[in-house]
Amino acid sequence: MAEGACAVSGLAGRGAMDGGMEGEPHSPVQAPAAPARHEGAFFPVVRPRRLRTGEPMRALVRETAWSARQLIQPLFVVPGRGIRQEIASMPGQFHLSPDRAGQEAKAIQAAGVGAVLLFGQPEAGGKDPVGRGAWAPDGAVPEAIAEIRAAAPGLIVMTDVCLCAYTDHGHCGVPGHAGDIDNDATLPLLARTALAHARAGADVVAPSDMMDGRVGAIRTALDGEGFTRVAIMAYSAKYASAFYGPFREAEDSTPAFGDRRGYQMDPANVREALREVELDLGEGADMVMVKPALAYLDVIRAVRERFDVPVIAYNVSGEYAMVKAAAERGWCDERAVAGEMLTAIRRAGADAIITYWAREASGWVS
Ligand code: PBG
Repeated sequence: MAEGACAVSGLAGRGAMDGGMEGEPHSPVQAPAAPARHEGAFFPVVRPRRLRTGEPMRALVRETAWSARQLIQPLFVVPGRGIRQEIASMPGQFHLSPDRAGQEAKAIQAAGVGAVLLFGQPEAGGKDPVGRGAWAPDGAVPEAIAEIRAAAPGLIVMTDVCLCAYTDHGHCGVPGHAGDIDNDATLPLLARTALAHARAGADVVAPSDMMDGRVGAIRTALDGEGFTRVAIMAYSAKYASAFYGPFREAEDSTPAFGDRRGYQMDPANVREALREVELDLGEGADMVMVKPALAYLDVIRAVRERFDVPVIAYNVSGEYAMVKAAAERGWCDERAVAGEMLTAIRRAGADAIITYWAREASGWVS
């Protein structure tokens, strides 16, 4: 090959880039033969590293950011007083009695976090086949809502609406025949649960059960009692995932028989996620969710591109616990890894992120 063939024309440049080691080596001291006047320029005219020279330059061209107001902190509330007990499977997360949840919420609000999402538990021995504790007006969740309202006025309070922490079999609905979960018999129970939360003052209810028609049933029940202002954040594309393991430890909600694949989505599907979102929006969901987040970034992106409603991603317990465990062994830098995860979830298209790092991460950004 003649020396001139190495001149920086678009084609020669392309060859040099992908061909790598083929042909004659390009002399590093040789100046580019052609001026930079062609379109579709390549190295050495183009040098992406110019925009990575320092943090001010990188910050100027950064495409994605997240801030505390876009983070949602889950809180695990339990009956009682003065309880703040660390959850073994989720270091840094606590079982909180309603009074302590109030204190925690105050600190969370002060940190600038956007919202809290409450998960409840019944009294010890309070589980039954239909999950009555889920809609008890004096349950830990309604009481925590009242405490949080008082301690952190203005903080958005969301509640998880599901039966699994309250049923003695650990399923998200009531069993029907043949060990199946009875969809239609579960709907009124979910609606009652959402109503109990709304009456206690929740701003947003978030059904996570994956029964068909639950969003519509909840919307009808809420509107029927005048709670037209209470929003529904639907766990629309919720997958049957092994990443929920640490959470089920925390909530003591592992199914006693079978698994959740009869109602939660198959991890292999993405078109079906769009269908689920479409149906939930048709029933009145205000926000839709993809869960888990990290192994489902493509689903977040697909939902974001198709629909014009807020898309929430749930950075679930397994995603949190894996990083915690590795960091404890000194195998990764928790803050750096978690920050990268949150950036990736936003980059995929999530508007807000439910994450166990919410409170802590709010201190990582200025
Ligand atoms: C209840 C519910 C679950 C999670 C949120 N709501 C568990 C499940 O469906 O098994 C998982 C949250 C997490 O893993 O962080 N249905």
